[in-house]
Amino acid sequence: MCGIVGFTGVRSAAPILLDGLKKLEYRGYDSAGIAVMDHHVISLSKVTGRIANLCEKTHDGKCMAGSTGIGHTRWATHGAPTEENAHPHLSNDGRFAVVHNGIIENYIALREELIRDGYHFESETDTEVIVHLIEMYYRGDMREALIRTANQLRGSYALGVLCSEEPDKIYAVREASPLILGLGIGENFFASDVTALVNHTRNVIYLEDGEFAELSRSSIRVFDGAGQEIRKKSTRILWDVQAAEKGGFEHFMLKEIMEQPGAVKATISPRIKDGRIVFDELKALIPALPNIRKIMITACGSAYYAGCAGKYALEKLCRIPVETQLASELRYSDPLIDEQTLLIVISQSGETADTIAAMKECKARGAKTLAIVNVVGSTVAKMADYTVYTWAGPEIAVATTKGYTTQISVLYLLALYLSDCLGLDSGKKAVMIEALQALPRQIQQAIDMNPGIPGLARKYHASKALFFIGRNTDYAVALEGALKMKEISYLHAEAYAAGELKHGTIALIEEHQPVIALCCNPLIMEKTMNNIVEVKSRGAEVLALTYRNNQKILSVADDLLFIPQIDPLFSAVVEIVPLQLLAYYVAKENECDIDKPKNLAKSVTVE
Ligand code: G6P
Repeated sequence: MCGIVGFTGVRSAAPILLDGLKKLEYRGYDSAGIAVMDHHVISLSKVTGRIANLCEKTHDGKCMAGSTGIGHTRWATHGAPTEENAHPHLSNDGRFAVVHNGIIENYIALREELIRDGYHFESETDTEVIVHLIEMYYRGDMREALIRTANQLRGSYALGVLCSEEPDKIYAVREASPLILGLGIGENFFASDVTALVNHTRNVIYLEDGEFAELSRSSIRVFDGAGQEIRKKSTRILWDVQAAEKGGFEHFMLKEIMEQPGAVKATISPRIKDGRIVFDELKALIPALPNIRKIMITACGSAYYAGCAGKYALEKLCRIPVETQLASELRYSDPLIDEQTLLIVISQSGETADTIAAMKECKARGAKTLAIVNVVGSTVAKMADYTVYTWAGPEIAVATTKGYTTQISVLYLLALYLSDCLGLDSGKKAVMIEALQALPRQIQQAIDMNPGIPGLARKYHASKALFFIGRNTDYAVALEGALKMKEISYLHAEAYAAGELKHGTIALIEEHQPVIALCCNPLIMEKTMNNIVEVKSRGAEVLALTYRNNQKILSVADDLLFIPQIDPLFSAVVEIVPLQLLAYYVAKENECDIDKPKNLAKSVTVE
């Protein structure tokens, strides 16, 4: 949700801010703006729509002089996406400018008080109260003004602030929204995400909640909420800059789909040593394991569906009951969680607000928390008792692909690792480890085996609705397949447990209704085949996803998608790939904005 950037140095600020905003555009893209400071004067440029409009308006930043500035790309929460509501917001006296990512929960009360005190509001945003509070509290000392302002705010915020009295400085404040400082040579930066920094520097400092920073071109000073200076260590970013570029692909999503064999390999391979699963990061969990009575998995969106797919392997191999709960539900459900619960939290970004809140709720009830996260140093990663990173690299497309498959890969590894630690020997460990090692190759095969997907997309792209059906892990994958389809192609796509069809949804089947049937588990194949026959006899057009050479399905389905033959316990991570490609090509056929679907943001840092 929203991206913010800041720069101070000797180079012209505006082009650097615009470049940073382009990298953050996946976080929100309904309006954007920059503020640049030149000799004690702050100038502002704002637009509705994409960063491209801001580049056009500012002639790629050339018409804004000054080498200190802040920028923002917005995903509207409070107030429509208009120019007035776009950030930065300016104080009434024009001496302060603010960009904000997050939500100020008590803004209505603050706004009323400020209006009583004579402040005039230009926008409908929650953010604008911040800039007026700073003006009110500023008595020649920005640090004091920021502390007093932060003391008034409830909610989540990452702030970037300019003060015209200090023309070479930018300020950054963090509370429950990500903010990273970049250390350059003779210049310094901040941004919501490292992807906006890596073109300039690889040395970064992660601000923590309650901290704020003063950046000049030659120094970065960090303070705690009481104004005490604190020493912070910098971290070196090892990501390849090219990993955050499109590299010849038409869309980030397609690039990220194609990167999955490598991403899953990078996640799995280093954790298999001498025929065993090794998780150095989980050693401290082992003594507590025998007391664990329940595993609860929580997450949002695709990360939640990754949990639904991984649950089967965990339960089967560890013989511990596994529940899955959406984080937005779990946080308000007065959950039955205690110190005998292992909470597995899954998040690509590590910054999803509901996920963080559910985690806090369960931690307070004594649960041990294990996070599966992609973004290093993110809030979820830092809050958890144990953190396992997926090594997917930066994921830019809003709809996740390699984030999801690497999350499931970690759940498979975890299932085998925990069962080993619990002394449960299924007698098939070696075979299963080999099966995990084969997954990257099988994902590649699933990409190569389905050259007909663009053709199928042409056949199905104009459908009114698409139904996905499957059982067990096939059902879990159907949920994610349908989500991908709606996210990027805007088609009405729903997933049903195949056995539930008769309890209502079969009423929706009519002539030529496409049904995508997932049949990748030989043990329950016959059951799903019965459902295929049922929908076909009511006129449905069936596209079946199954393993190569499955003669039985060949005779009943109209069209086919293939995966190689895999142990059904581990097949979800491969099954999803043809469905991702189908969603991609349907969206392309429908000329949708694939990497930035309407109304969606990659990192949902508000409730
Ligand atoms: C958003 C994204 C989804 C993602 C979900 C959870 O809705 O568009 O792709 O699955 O958030 O995000 P997380 O970063 O916690 O995995």
